Amino acid sequence: MTTSSSTRRTRSRVGPEGPAGRHASDLDVDSLLDDRRTGIIVCCGSGGVGKTTASAALALRAAERGRKVVVLTIDPARRLAQSMGIPELGNTPRPVVGVDQAAGGSLSAMMLDMKRTFDEVVLSQASPEKAEQILANPFYIALSSSFAGTQEYMAMEKLGQLHRDHVLGGTAGAGEPHGQGDFDLIVVDTPPSRSALDFLDAPERLSSFLDGRFVRLMLAPARGPARLMTAGFGLITNAMTRILGAQFLKDLQTFVAALDTVFGGFRQRAQQTYSLLQADGTAFLVVAAPEPDALREAAYFVERLSDDAMPLAGLILNRASPEPDSALPAEDAVAGAGRLRRQDPASVTAGLLRLHADQVRMVERERDLRNRFTAAHPQVPTAVVPALAGDVHDLDGLRRIGSLLGREE
Ligand SMILES: Nc1ncnc2c1ncn2[C@@H]1O[C@H](COP(=O)(O)OP(=O)(O)OP(=O)(O)O)[C@@H](O)[C@H]1O
Ligand SMILES: [Mg+2]
Repeated sequence: MTTSSSTRRTRSRVGPEGPAGRHASDLDVDSLLDDRRTGIIVCCGSGGVGKTTASAALALRAAERGRKVVVLTIDPARRLAQSMGIPELGNTPRPVVGVDQAAGGSLSAMMLDMKRTFDEVVLSQASPEKAEQILANPFYIALSSSFAGTQEYMAMEKLGQLHRDHVLGGTAGAGEPHGQGDFDLIVVDTPPSRSALDFLDAPERLSSFLDGRFVRLMLAPARGPARLMTAGFGLITNAMTRILGAQFLKDLQTFVAALDTVFGGFRQRAQQTYSLLQADGTAFLVVAAPEPDALREAAYFVERLSDDAMPLAGLILNRASPEPDSALPAEDAVAGAGRLRRQDPASVTAGLLRLHADQVRMVERERDLRNRFTAAHPQVPTAVVPALAGDVHDLDGLRRIGSLLGREE
């Protein structure tokens, strides 16, 4: 971590600074949402920790507190998508019904359609004729729907589009105040990658694939002067033609050559979105489960954000074990259970005391983990969200998570 990047992170964090405290939730989510300078919130984290739930809950809470919000969700569970009214194949924001608009805010939601987003980029970058050629190419179809990293890349692309078309209202330049368009806050969910870092790494990975040796090799006959067609290369292509078939190779070459012409555009746009992620007004929230692996992953991510000068607002520790109702210490509960068991081996109360002890120990273990994280990263404020009894699949559930994040409950 460089000194300048850490200075920058501190300066550009929106919302009030969380105290460097080590107790309870010290991330002030409501101030972050209410701060009009907060223009983009990105929820990252490793697979299954609650990124989609947290993004939707934050978006709903911000809307009901008066912000004009759009949430970009990625692969939401079916029931959640339905309750937000996101049609299966929508790739543009739709208003969510059932949001309390009394404070003057609104909520729109969309679900990322990776292939359509890719098609839109091609259409906007290439001549209609060339675009048609690319869109029909089997390699393009495979790349745009399944290449590892495409989803991450397209999530960034969509964020860039939403920002250009809806926040800036198409007229204002980057860095100008928000609020001229339809939305003044974009909440972004990130893809279900194994690692949170994939979201930041994928565009580079896709770029280096497109820039890589294999692609260069394929491009050589399509664009290079005849003398580049060395005898060696001729042998390779002949062998590949035999193995793969002439049509396959022709498709691949056509695709690579065509993509090459729009590639400058891809790179530039990815770079622009990357800058947007570094801009003042962007806030990253890292979501993690209170488990050693998830917190280790979150720690890597926190360090990476700092290295990349990306503004981190805090950590959401999701699905924490709920605090037990009674303050009885675990040791006392175990001792009491032991005594009862000696009198009556089938004692139900003894069983309940054991359960209580397990719960207390779990809460303590999670608190230790969190304290260790905070000791290593004292600059990162944390919000703790307990595990609810069931899944979060409707607006009421999201509201509940939102109020836990806002420390209302
Ligand atoms: N605090 C919570 N209490 C109870 N259930 C929760 C909580 N947070 C999330 N869930 C549930 O956990 C499941 C996973 O959550 P979610 O889909 O938000 O995770 P994700 O990080 O987006 O996963 P992926 O990496 O697959 O995209 C969902 O069924 C959701 O309803
Ligand atoms: Mg998700």
